[in-house]
Amino acid sequence: METSLNLRPPRSDRSFDDAAAAQMERIIADLGVMYQERNRALREVANAHHEALLRLALAAELRDDDTGVHIIRIGHLAEALALKCGEAPRFAQMLRHAAPMHDVGKIGVPDCVLKKPGTYTQEEREVMKRHPVIGAQILGRSRIPLFQLAAEVAMSHHERWDGTGYPLGLAREAIPISGRIVAVVDFFDALTMDRCYRKAYADDEALSMLAEQSGAAFDPRLVEQLLSNATEFIALRNRITDHPPSLESLAEAA
Ligand SMILES: [Fe+2]
Ligand SMILES: [Fe+2]
Repeated sequence: METSLNLRPPRSDRSFDDAAAAQMERIIADLGVMYQERNRALREVANAHHEALLRLALAAELRDDDTGVHIIRIGHLAEALALKCGEAPRFAQMLRHAAPMHDVGKIGVPDCVLKKPGTYTQEEREVMKRHPVIGAQILGRSRIPLFQLAAEVAMSHHERWDGTGYPLGLAREAIPISGRIVAVVDFFDALTMDRCYRKAYADDEALSMLAEQSGAAFDPRLVEQLLSNATEFIALRNRITDHPPSLESLAEAA
């Protein structure tokens, strides 16, 4: 009695070969569709994750900034400064999406410290100094490169060129370029906006305060680029203030 069946016809059976080839084509086409659907689903998850984190950053920002548009401006200004400094366009674009989350860790700083006018006590300063680490912890849980960059920015945007910043006291090129760029544009943009404890500085005043910090708080090469292209940066800042893109569009375009 026959124990195994050989269903495969002889090689010479062309109709079988044609059917097998057609079936293989269908399988490959189905896999292609499945692959596209999987990629679309992954993109949607990443966008939703990005939007949720942007909203968290906005929630942190709205506590001491009425409009929240500062964080959007920081993204665009950081991208522009990165390009002026010869960074790759892809990196600059990622920085536009990552930089708005730089202060998300302020969600962990109480109002009595965050909104305090005047100078901080030593204890209050220590509380405020925790926000880079809190931000990096919130953002750094993802393996997606954009969020890793955002965590790097959150962690390093208060380091200073002269090594006296926080939380790690890194100096010069040991500070990631992402954090050095965001530190410069954050300083300039924050000075030129009204805060709950002071009025906005005029652009000229803010630019000379920035120049004073070249080589102290900030990378001199970056300060030089912002100062020598100040008109362009100010126009960009004003454009974003007048027509800020929505958070949804920011998350989708990443
Ligand atoms: Fe900060
Ligand atoms: Fe900021």
